[in-house]
Amino acid sequence: MFAKTLALFAGAALVAAESHTISFNNRCGKGEPVVFQNFQQLNSGGGSYTFNGPAPAVIAYLQDGSCGASGENCSLMELTLINGGVSSADVSLIPPHTYSTPVGFAYNNGCDGQGKTCASADCAEAFHVTDDYGAQVQCTANDVNLQITFC
Ligand SMILES: *[C@@H]1O[C@H](CO)[C@@H](O)[C@H](O)[C@H]1NC(C)=O
Repeated sequence: MFAKTLALFAGAALVAAESHTISFNNRCGKGEPVVFQNFQQLNSGGGSYTFNGPAPAVIAYLQDGSCGASGENCSLMELTLINGGVSSADVSLIPPHTYSTPVGFAYNNGCDGQGKTCASADCAEAFHVTDDYGAQVQCTANDVNLQITFC
């Protein structure tokens, strides 16, 4: 009886263990990939970061020394990764953000390889004005991860 209860509990914990990892491939040879949420940097040393739960309203960019803390003056990644809903990611060049480096993203562990790359200041793959909704790539798989590539 006790063992059965324990097994059920473990099963429930497994289902509830939502996880999303943001990882980077920085091919620029300079700069540090950073992940921010609520004005707080989450990763360190340009490394990946794993959310043990939903990851709403996250931003990421390549800090090359000229970006503001919220990615001002730089190419910005905006993303929300959640289970039981719609995850979405996009590149934003809406002021105060501006094109600073090629940036691309792709989902993995669900919606594998789906994403976009913005490789120029006038790229069609990024937000330039607030209604460029075509820039968003959405995914409804659980526990999706996102890899972001610079250059
Ligand atoms: C962005 O660039 C402009 C022009 O160089 C500069 O005046 C401004 O301080 C920069 N913003 C941030 C947040 O670094």
